[in-house]
Order: sequence, then C-alpha cells, then structure tokens
Amino acid sequence: MENILILGSTGSIGQNAIEVIKKGSKYNIIGIAFNKNISKAIDQIKLLKPKYVYVGEASYIKQLKDLFPNIEYFTQETLVDLIGRTDVDFVVNAFVGSAGILPSFYAIYYKKKFALANKESLVVAGKILTDLAKKNNVEIIPIDSEHSAIYQCLDGKRQYLDKIILTASGGPFRQTNKKQFKNITKEMALHHPKWNMGAKITIDSATMMNKGFEVIEAGWLFDLDSNQIEVVVHKECIVHSAVEFIDGSIIAQMALPDMKLPIAYALYKPHRIAFENRLSFVDIGSLSFEKPDLDKFELLALAQEAFKKKNKNLGLLLNAADEVCVECFLENRIKFTDIPKIIKQIVIDFEDNLSDNVFELQAQTQIIKTETAKLIEKTRGF
Ligand SMILES: NC(=O)c1ccc[n+]([C@@H]2O[C@H](COP(=O)([O-])OP(=O)(O)OC[C@H]3O[C@@H](n4cnc5c(N)ncnc54)[C@H](OP(=O)(O)O)[C@@H]3O)[C@@H](O)[C@H]2O)c1
Repeated sequence: MENILILGSTGSIGQNAIEVIKKGSKYNIIGIAFNKNISKAIDQIKLLKPKYVYVGEASYIKQLKDLFPNIEYFTQETLVDLIGRTDVDFVVNAFVGSAGILPSFYAIYYKKKFALANKESLVVAGKILTDLAKKNNVEIIPIDSEHSAIYQCLDGKRQYLDKIILTASGGPFRQTNKKQFKNITKEMALHHPKWNMGAKITIDSATMMNKGFEVIEAGWLFDLDSNQIEVVVHKECIVHSAVEFIDGSIIAQMALPDMKLPIAYALYKPHRIAFENRLSFVDIGSLSFEKPDLDKFELLALAQEAFKKKNKNLGLLLNAADEVCVECFLENRIKFTDIPKIIKQIVIDFEDNLSDNVFELQAQTQIIKTETAKLIEKTRGF
C-alpha cells in the first residue's frame, strides 16, 4: 500500500479523490489537508483515521486536538515537513488557488509521486516546477480533465505530437450576447451547464479564464509552444481534449463528464477502475465544435497572449488578480464585466516587474492581490 496525502480533501476534487481511493486497496490515506471547513474535516477524520492533518486556518487546531489528540497536526509553516519529512509516498494537490503552489514545489523537490489538480501551480510557476520535475525525474500527473485526456491520448507517443486540441464547454454564457454580460449575477455564473465544481473554478469557467489557465497549464505540462494549442468550444463536454499527430491522425479521449475518471487514471494508470457511467454514441447523436469568441471572452485571449510571452511569467498576474476579482464578484462587490477590465489593467501595470524565484512568487502574488484590491477600491468597479 502507498501512503497518500490529499491536499484539499474537503473540496470537490478532494472528496472525489477519497471516493475513488476507497474503491481500491492501493492507497492508505495517511494525511488530509483543508483550510476552514472544520465540520467536513471532522467527518473525514472519523472516516479515514489519518495520521496527519494539515489545517490552513490554524485557529481550528485546538478544537481538533481536543477531539483527536493522537493526530500529528501541520500548518502553513510546517507544510514542508508534512510533505518532505514524513512517510507520505504520494501527494494529490487539490488545493484551490495560489495556496497550492508551494505544496507542488515541495512534492516535486522531495521526489514524491505527484498528481496535480491545482492548475494555479503551473499557471504561476510552470517553468520552475517543470524544470525541477525534469531534474528530479518526477512525473507531474494531471488530474484536470482536459490535461488528463491529452495525457491519456499521448501515452508514449509524445515525439509524434503536432498540436493539442483543448476543448471547452463555453460555460453558461456561450450563447449570451456580450451586451447582456453587464446583467450577469453570481447565481447565473455559478450555474455551470455540465460540471459540478468548486465556486472559484465555476466562475472562471463562466469568464473562460479557466480555459486560459488551462492553455498555460497544458503549455508547461506538455512542453508546447503557443501555436501548438488550439482551443475549441465543444458544448456537449464529451470529448475532453484531443491530440493531433504529425501524420494528421487525431486521438481524442471521450467520456461522460465526471471528475472521478481523470482522478482514477492519475492514481491507477495504466490500470483503469470500473465505473458504471457509460457513454453511448447513439444516444449522444451529434457533437459540435466551434471557435471560441475571443471578443466576448477577453480573458481567454489575454491568457493565450500571456503564454506567448511565457518568459515573462504573466500567469502570476492573471492568477493573483483573478483570485481577488472572483472573490469580490462572489461578494457582489464588482460586476461580472469588471473582472476582465481589472485583470487587464493589472497586467498592463505590472507586466515588467516579475520574479522567477519560487519563494518570491508567493510574496509577489500577495503584492499583486493587494494591488488588485486597491484598484477595485479606487474604481469601485469600472
Ligand atoms: N472541481 C473540479 O471539477 C476541478 C476540475 C479541474 C481542476 N480543478 C482544480 O482543482 C483545484 C481544486 O478545485 P475544487 O473545485 O476542488 O476547489 P474547492 O471545492 O473550492 O476545494 C478547495 C480545497 O482547497 C482547500 N483550501 C482552500 N484554500 C486553502 C488554503 N489557503 N490553504 C489550504 N487549503 C485551502 C479547501 O479547504 P476548505 O474546504 O476548508 O475551504 C478545499 O479543501 C483548483 O485548482 C481547480 O482549478 C477542479
């Protein structure tokens, strides 16, 4: 049995990962990590009896210690020990946001087996993490469904790859006229037509920032140039992405939308776990593919441009500004249409001042978040 640590165990991916792991006998869940959702964490501790628990919001530790005195607890300051100095064999990083960047670095640095859902890690620190992974011979196994699809399609054929076709659902506003965007509420944006996910990624799907992040993530993960990544809107969410080879053949991975599938592949590859959900070609009827509307979804265009200038690490700016904007949008403090305006302004203002040291990335992310919050305050939206 391998000792697995689930970072973000209380979240959407984390809970699915636990369900998948419980189906087999390959892994012992030795540790879980969460931020604030204490009631879900208590349920998970009772069920899983982990040896280690990481708590982002350290003030909860006393309460947990009273309930479960035999567990070893970790906080932000000691996360490095949890990953690097315990008997953890496998790390699943399903933290949301920039909190996931350093854990990715530690997992790769300490040569752990490593599956990555936290896309922000590669968006912000793609070069650092992929360089280190090559040096330490660590494979970054993708959990994100599109990247898992590409990973499954490549399967030993990387040298023949011409380009990837990254599919996008188009989100809830695919057919909404841009003029109507000013009326979009958080309730409307939180209603994704196909996927049930955490709040942050659901809003990012509505703005298509999420697809922009995935372009950057795929670029680093599969070592691609920007012209090797084609984004195609595919509203049925059946083709999770595809790979075009130099002979013109395209191999796609298809399944009904369910994150358990890419999670299971990341944990059990090359083996496959039996699931009951089945796709019937006859029942689907037809599949559609169209170009994304980059005028409407400016953040996708911005991320594609950012990846073209990948030596500048603009992903850090996009990610930090987006985290603040999404939070403010969810608190009804800015409008949906403010999100791209603010992020674009932050890129203009800070484009030439970025660092590429992993420990500085965290601090720099914090600075950009503060600057974004100030910009929002100054303009009270646009
Ligand atoms: N959901 C999907 O279907 C999906 C698909 C592809 C990729 N992803 C990516 O996977 C990651 C997780 O997404 P999700 O939808 O599972 O998010 P989520 O449901 O919001 O869960 C996030 C998890 O991270 C924890 N967390 C949040 N802030 C933290 C902090 N500062 N320190 C430590 N832990 C923190 C949360 O703890 P609390 O519960 O205590 O707040 C929770 O366990 C994201 O990067 C997302 O882009 C998700």
